Amino acid sequence: MERKVIIAGNWKMNKTAAAGKELVEALKPLVADVTEAEIVVCPPFTTLNAVVAAAAGSNIKVGAQNVHWAENGAFTGEISAEMLVTSGVEYVIIGHSERRQYFGETDATVNARMKAALKAGLKVIVCVGETLEEREGNKTSEVIGRQIKEGFEGIAAADMANVIVAYEPVWAIGTGKTATPEMAEETHKFIRETVSAIFGGDVAGALRIQYGGSMKPENARELVAQADIDGGLIGGAALKADSFAKLITEAIGR
Ligand code: PGA
Repeated sequence: MERKVIIAGNWKMNKTAAAGKELVEALKPLVADVTEAEIVVCPPFTTLNAVVAAAAGSNIKVGAQNVHWAENGAFTGEISAEMLVTSGVEYVIIGHSERRQYFGETDATVNARMKAALKAGLKVIVCVGETLEEREGNKTSEVIGRQIKEGFEGIAAADMANVIVAYEPVWAIGTGKTATPEMAEETHKFIRETVSAIFGGDVAGALRIQYGGSMKPENARELVAQADIDGGLIGGAALKADSFAKLITEAIGR
C-alpha cells in the first residue's frame, strides 16, 4: 500500500513568534517543490499564529504539541481542540515521551486527548516508545502494545485515517543515539501488527508510522527506506531551515 511520507518538526519549547516566522520563511523556498511528502511544523502555542500566517498558501502544515480533552472550562494553562482548529492548526502531537515523563501523561490521558482532537477534526500524531530500561529488559513489545491498546481504546476505525503514530524510542531522543534502521523497522512492524489486530488490515496498511529520535539528514534516507517507516518526527534537526529541508529531501530519496 502506498503511504505518503510525513515529516513533522517538533520544535518543543523553542522559537518565539518572530523566530518561528523567520524559520518558516526560510523553509518555504527550500521545500516549495516537494510534493512527495507532507511537511508539518509544530511550534509552541504562542508561536502558532505567526507560523500559521507565514505558512499560508505553502505546502507547510502546522501542528500543536498538545491539546486538552475538555471542550472548555476551568483548566488553567490548557488549550482546547477548538482553540487550535480556529487558529488554523491542522495537526497535534499527543503523548510525547517528554509529556509522559515530566507532565504526568498516561495512556488514559492520551486516549482522552485523542478523542477530543479527532472530534474537532484535527489530525493526531500519537507518540509511543520504550525507555532504555524497558528495551534492555526485553519489554519493548509489551510497553508499546499497551500504549497502543490503551491509548487507542474506543477510537473508531474510520477516525484512524486521521491518526499517525510516531515511534520514538525514549533513549534515542536528543541523545544522538538513533535506533538502527533494522531495529526501528522491527518495532514499526510490530506497531502495524498491533493496529491490525485492533482495527483490521486495511486500517493498519494505510496507517503512517513515523520514526523519531535523533533523526537527521544523514540517517533519514535509510530509515524512511524501511518498509514500515513512513516518515519522521524531528526535534533538533527541525530547528534550522536548511537541516530540516535537507532531511526532507533525503527522506523522499532525492
Ligand atoms: P530529536 O527529538 O530529533 O531531537 O531526538 C525527537 C522528538 O523528541 O520528537
